[in-house]
Amino acid sequence: MFPKDFVWGVASSAYQVEGTDAKDGRGKNIWDEFARSGRVYEHQTAEVCCDHMHRYREDFALMRMLGIKNYRFSISWSRILPEGTGKVNEKAVQMYRDMILCMKENGIRPFITLFHWEFPYELFKKGGWLNDEVVQWFGEYAKVVAENFSDLCSDFITINEPQCAIGLGHLNGVHAPGMKYSIPETFQMAHNLMKAHGQAVINLRKYAKQKIRVGYAPTCGVAYPATESADDIAAAKKVYFGFENPMDNWTWNVAWFSDPVFLGEYPKEGLEKFADYLPEITEEDMQLIHQPLDFMGQNIYNGYMIRCGADGDPEYVDRAPGTAKTGTGWPVTPEALYYGIRFLTERYRLPLYITENGMSDLDNISADGQVHDRERITFLDAYLGAVQRAINEGMPVIGYFLWTFLDNFEWAEGYKERFGLVYVDYTTQRRIAKDSAYWYREVMRMNGENL
Ligand code: NOJ
Repeated sequence: MFPKDFVWGVASSAYQVEGTDAKDGRGKNIWDEFARSGRVYEHQTAEVCCDHMHRYREDFALMRMLGIKNYRFSISWSRILPEGTGKVNEKAVQMYRDMILCMKENGIRPFITLFHWEFPYELFKKGGWLNDEVVQWFGEYAKVVAENFSDLCSDFITINEPQCAIGLGHLNGVHAPGMKYSIPETFQMAHNLMKAHGQAVINLRKYAKQKIRVGYAPTCGVAYPATESADDIAAAKKVYFGFENPMDNWTWNVAWFSDPVFLGEYPKEGLEKFADYLPEITEEDMQLIHQPLDFMGQNIYNGYMIRCGADGDPEYVDRAPGTAKTGTGWPVTPEALYYGIRFLTERYRLPLYITENGMSDLDNISADGQVHDRERITFLDAYLGAVQRAINEGMPVIGYFLWTFLDNFEWAEGYKERFGLVYVDYTTQRRIAKDSAYWYREVMRMNGENL
């Protein structure tokens, strides 16, 4: 049974829905430049996008009609601080305040993410995550967020998917800023990012106008066991928090990005394995990173199977032939959600929000004018069943944010992938709630009783 106060919601991010209209004086970010240089699928850009910045009133009315009461969204750093630091753009502050007020008028509780990948371009030119001043830059931004929005919002998430921000953006260059830094540089960046997280937590709390709750939202594929035997479960857990990943992208790692934040230390196994690449790590750094948090977030989409081999070591196991896939080609593995929750709460012992889960699909408008996304319903039914199982076994899952409300700009994939509960016709900006939106409305209304 889902707890009575379980938080059912949807998630999105600023860059993926707003549009980049600069009339309000927004500053450029790394994604503007990445898209401008033609590195997104079919040279698409987020210029108009879902035009949410001009249409949020109708979007929140639609959310209300669909029974959505919790919305995780992000603020664009360079929209409210065009240079990344310094002068605050009051017009943009006003826009976000209006947006939040409009959410509240529609009975929607806001959850603000501070950083969902759109790093200010001016600060990128100064070295970005590699420059340890980023700790102060991000801290200043957190202060501005607290001062301007904490009277209206009491739930904050510092950073979304640090693994992708560093790994995809700075190690293999498939996301903005499209750079391929050296491995030691990326370790330095990750370390700075976690320090920036710590500074943001301090400043959010210090400048907040009411008592607030703060968390962090990393990600990673989940290692889940091939069977429910104790040996397989232990093997999967070992791999999930372990360091078997190839060095061509060391950033796909749970423990490296979460242990410092939640436990105050880097995992020993990683310190040994990565010893040659690490920056100087001081005790003060670790204290700064390890701020008390009210919850942990985790974005979970899929996983891979592990069993305990004959020699006692973990082994990768192929999935059954014909395992279902989503539009992005990601495997449908609801076990990943159950075991992700289980392993994370066993290790970090904090209340957990699933801050993202969902799928892209080949959605299209049928002759009857509707979008019949049966696959998404099948997917959500199975994944929410996994959440339900975890809750029934006593795990502290306090909420679930479905990715996402509107079809939107899927980063380097542009508009190719449709993850939304609501179909967006990008030519007319018409919205059509898909079948899954009505299905999810019922799930939320019944608090999961109908799953
Ligand atoms: C991860 C990211 O946080 C989000 O921005 C992205 O659109 C979804 N997952 C789907 O890939």
